[in-house]
Amino acid sequence: MTRIVVLISGRGSNMQAIVEACNNGAIDGSVVAVISNTDKAGGLKFAQSQNIATAVVDHTAFADRNQFDAELLTLVDSFKPDWLVLAGFMRILSADFVNHFLGRMVNIHPSLLPQYPGLNTHTKALAAGDTEHGATVHFVTPELDAGPIIAQTRVPVLPTDTEQTLAERVLLTEHDLFTHALQLCVSGVARYADGKCTLGNARM
Ligand code: GRF
Repeated sequence: MTRIVVLISGRGSNMQAIVEACNNGAIDGSVVAVISNTDKAGGLKFAQSQNIATAVVDHTAFADRNQFDAELLTLVDSFKPDWLVLAGFMRILSADFVNHFLGRMVNIHPSLLPQYPGLNTHTKALAAGDTEHGATVHFVTPELDAGPIIAQTRVPVLPTDTEQTLAERVLLTEHDLFTHALQLCVSGVARYADGKCTLGNARM
């Protein structure tokens, strides 16, 4: 059984969608641990309700990023994951951490990457007057939100949109997107090689 570890920082709705997809067979895998950098992450409760191992590595307890990342890496490795999934994990990870999991770590980002890496993506899309916005699942590489893209969803931006209504419309697509993209990874259809994502025979 493919072992999946999920990192979260908050609500955890994407993590919940992944757990449910594992439970109903849409993903051929099992979430063996959910780890957060804060005990305030609401998603921890859901994971516990599913009898999934949970842990908190509080980043504020470490002197610097490298020490936090080293502790997190040891903990993640202890669960022997085949895939490490960033689902609303709000910490930047060091190159050493990323390279350790290169090719088996994926992230969801609420924009049509390469547009709008970083924070406040919905505000940026509205400010730019975009007519289209969306979400991306990508392999994680050391450069923030710049790894090769596995899959994207697109939604319209409406003239009446606020940051909140746009975020809600994007989030509605994220759960199926993440489930689909992770199953592509788990099944070996999506593979990371030489800084690219291979989908079947296509290189993206
Ligand atoms: C999502 O919008 C995701 O794209 C972004 O953070 C948000 C996390 O939401 N990276 P949730 O915690 O999965 O509900």
